[in-house]
This record gives sequence, structure tokens and C-alpha cells, in this order.
Amino acid sequence: MDKETKNKNSNTENKKSLKNIEANDFDNIDAKKKRPNLREIRAENKKKRSESKIISNLGKDFVKEEKEDFIKKIKSEENIDEKKKLKEELKKIFKNGEAINSKGNIIDIKGLEKYYCNGINCEHILHNINLEIKEGEIVVILGASGSGKTTLLNIMSGLTNPTLGDVVVAGKNMLYLSEAGRTKFRADNLSFVFQSYNLIPSLTVVENIKVGENLRSKDVEKIEMSKILETLDLEKQAKKYPFQLSGGQNQRVSIGRALAKNPKLLFADEPTGALDEEKGREALQMLLDINEKYKTTLIMVTHNPNFANIADMVLYIKDGRVDRIKKNKTKLKASKIDWS
Ligand SMILES: Nc1ncnc2c1ncn2[C@@H]1O[C@H](COP(=O)(O)OP(=O)(O)O)[C@@H](O)[C@H]1O
Ligand SMILES: [Mg+2]
Repeated sequence: MDKETKNKNSNTENKKSLKNIEANDFDNIDAKKKRPNLREIRAENKKKRSESKIISNLGKDFVKEEKEDFIKKIKSEENIDEKKKLKEELKKIFKNGEAINSKGNIIDIKGLEKYYCNGINCEHILHNINLEIKEGEIVVILGASGSGKTTLLNIMSGLTNPTLGDVVVAGKNMLYLSEAGRTKFRADNLSFVFQSYNLIPSLTVVENIKVGENLRSKDVEKIEMSKILETLDLEKQAKKYPFQLSGGQNQRVSIGRALAKNPKLLFADEPTGALDEEKGREALQMLLDINEKYKTTLIMVTHNPNFANIADMVLYIKDGRVDRIKKNKTKLKASKIDWS
């Protein structure tokens, strides 16, 4: 069997064995009758929890209780084969956070709620977010300052934990991943571009970009350093340090660092926020080029409504809720949008 066929077959096998543990479709599990109905358990627990007003750890508590119920089920299973299967499922769901995205999607979010709590005071930040993002899409998240854009981005990228709800990103459910699991998930799947660049001041341009390269997973194609420098027009700056560069150049280095990892997902939070119009357009176009060239899914937060025109999908967030979703049939280049 050639390698490709072998991979294909083993993928099909994986999909088959995962079929019954789709974490965003718990009813599938129940369909086998022998499996516990996690969705029902969760609904019941949610009622109990909301009555006791303990919400800061809501998601973690649910997962813990779901797991305990699952273990009970395993203990009561008498058929050895079934027991073994259940144990494997337990590991996949609760240890590895495995879940399945809907076909063609890289992100599926169902019923996401986020609370920020200090002590006993909690603030409800995100309300019942439901969302699907296709692989390779450009998504722009728009909304006023304080509406919850960064919080949503950070939950999708595994930087912040959801309080409740299924957030399935690249085959992992964020609600079920441990801190360590989320760290690995980030390393395996994504890069970040921030408004404030976040470069390492004691490293040169090339060395900063190498930081990204070192984070690349082994099964991902390497993008040559010379190509990155050329794409980002940084060849002459290769040996300079961040303090010797302009804001626009620093942002290009941070885009270079993100690109060197050749990630599946590229998250950007106000990537042009610190740049003037000309440099901002350049940085934006570079992100769009990365999406086009490498089919990287690009998810970008901004408060500039003009960015709506460069996206496949625009998500308008208002007071922590999805106000509207707009899909564009045609997209504009960064040079063609209004900037003011
Ligand atoms: N770590 C945090 N702890 C407590 N509250 C937070 C935290 N991060 C954000 N918030 C609050 O959540 C709300 C949404 O913030 P954010 O997601 O940063 O909005 P945006 O990016 O749209 O400006 C704001 O009211 C903010 O004060
Ligand atoms: Mg923000």
C-alpha cells in the first residue's frame, strides 16, 4: 500500500472510531443506548449550578461531573469489549479533548458563555455565541470597544477558557482541554499577531522570525526564511533589532514570525491598530496574501468597519452577543478599502 492510501485509510479509521464521541453532538453517543447522554447530564447539572450561582468554574465543574458519570457507566458495563471501547472514548473526550468539526469547518461554536469573575462577583461577557468558520476563510470580527471581541478571539485560540459551551477548534473542544492541552493545541495549530507586536527586543529580525519557525509542527511544510523576508520586504532589516525599526516594520516582523510557523489558523487582534494608514494597509495586505497563498484561516479583530470588505465573513459583536453575520461574495484588496 502506498503511503497516501495508507494515510487515507488510517484517517478513515480514526474518523470511524471517533464517530460516537463527537463532543458537539452528544446525542450520537446516546444513540448507542449503552452510552450516557452527556447533553442531558449537562443540562441537569447546569440547572443545579445556576441555582447555586456558582458560575466561575461552571464549565470545569460540568466536565468533571460528566466525566464522573462516564466513569460510573464504564464501571457498570459488564461486556468486556464495550468496557474497553468506553474507556477509549473516555480518554479521547476527557484527556485529549477530541471532537469533530462539521465538514469543511475549522471552528464550530455552540452555546458559548463567558463570565469573568473576581471573588463572588461575576460579569457576563459573552452570551450564547453560535458560530461556524470554514477552513481557509477570512473572518473579521467587528464591534465597539468593550463588546467582547478580544475575549471571543482568545477563547477560540485557547488563550482563555470558555465558561460554558462547546468550542471545537481544529478537532479539539476547548471546554475539555486542560491548561497543558490548550498549550499544545496552540503550538500545533495557530499563530497570533498582536497590536503591540510582542517581539523579543534582544533578538534580531531573523532571530525573532526563527522563534515562529521553531514552533512549527513537524508535519507542516517549512517556509524558507529568505522567502519570508522577501514577502515582507524585510531583507535589508534582517540583522537589525526591534528598536532600530519603525512600527510598520516591527509589525511585519511579527507577521513574519506568525508566518514562519505556517499555521492552520492565524489570529490577529487589531493588527493595524498602532500603524498609520499606509503601513496599516501594507500589514493588512500581507495577512490577506498569507491567507491566499497558504490557505491559512485568518481571524481578525478590529474596530474599523471598513475591514468588513476584505472578509469572507463578518461577525458583528454587540454587548457580548452576535448581532449579525454577513457573508461577502466578493472581497476587496487592502488598497481598495476606506481607512478613515
Ligand atoms: N481578564 C479580564 N478580567 C475581567 N474582565 C475582563 C477581562 N478581559 C476583558 N474583560 C471585560 O470584558 C469586556 C469585553 O472586553 P474585550 O473582550 O477586551 O472587548 P473588546 O476587545 O471588544 O474591546 C470588557 O467589559 C472588559 O472590561
Ligand atoms: Mg480588544
